[in-house]
Amino acid sequence: MKKSTLVLTGSPRVGGNSDLLADAFIKGATAAGHEVVKCEAGTKNLMGCKACDTCYRKGKPCSFDDDFNSIAPLMEKADVIVFVTPLYWFTFSAQLKAAIDKMYSFIIGGKKLKIAESMLLVCGNDDESVFDGIINTYKRIACYQKWTDRGQLIVPGVHNKGDILSTEYLVVAEKMGHNI
Ligand SMILES: Cc1cc2nc3c(=O)[nH]c(=O)nc-3n(C[C@H](O)[C@H](O)[C@H](O)COP(=O)(O)O)c2cc1C
Repeated sequence: MKKSTLVLTGSPRVGGNSDLLADAFIKGATAAGHEVVKCEAGTKNLMGCKACDTCYRKGKPCSFDDDFNSIAPLMEKADVIVFVTPLYWFTFSAQLKAAIDKMYSFIIGGKKLKIAESMLLVCGNDDESVFDGIINTYKRIACYQKWTDRGQLIVPGVHNKGDILSTEYLVVAEKMGHNI
């Protein structure tokens, strides 16, 4: 079945490790016939949620105008959401976390999303042991949202732009995309 897939990336570094990971995933998903939209949250203007609880009351998801209001329609269309992020301080990048925080607007606005499945692809400099925080957070979010977790890919040991090119992880990401 063709799935509408939103790949939400978190790095401000265009062409960086997680960006390449996202593109490999998208290559696989597109080859398998899925409709994929890539949204680079890491390069957007995203503020934290202000907890004003006025979401959707002013004709837009967030009452404060930032790029979440152009991301929200993409989330509303998606069947699958895929988070692809560098590990920043043991969790999502702040930009991607801000986009996730603002998904609160769907709850306050009473908008039921059709997203049913999710995945996480994350890369970082250190070894696998430091990814437990983001994995737990991601699993909690998926469980709370009643998304079926379709898997996580941890890519350790990559720091400089392009480090991931000398690993096998792009092939793994492409296969994950193919199998959604
Ligand atoms: C602000 C910041 C925080 C980071 N925190 C961590 C961290 O907690 N653990 C880690 O292993 N790497 C950390 N890193 C390294 C990045 O995760 C790593 O360089 C990654 O490959 C960057 O991905 P990108 O090329 O997609 O931006 C951090 C980098 C930055 C800039």
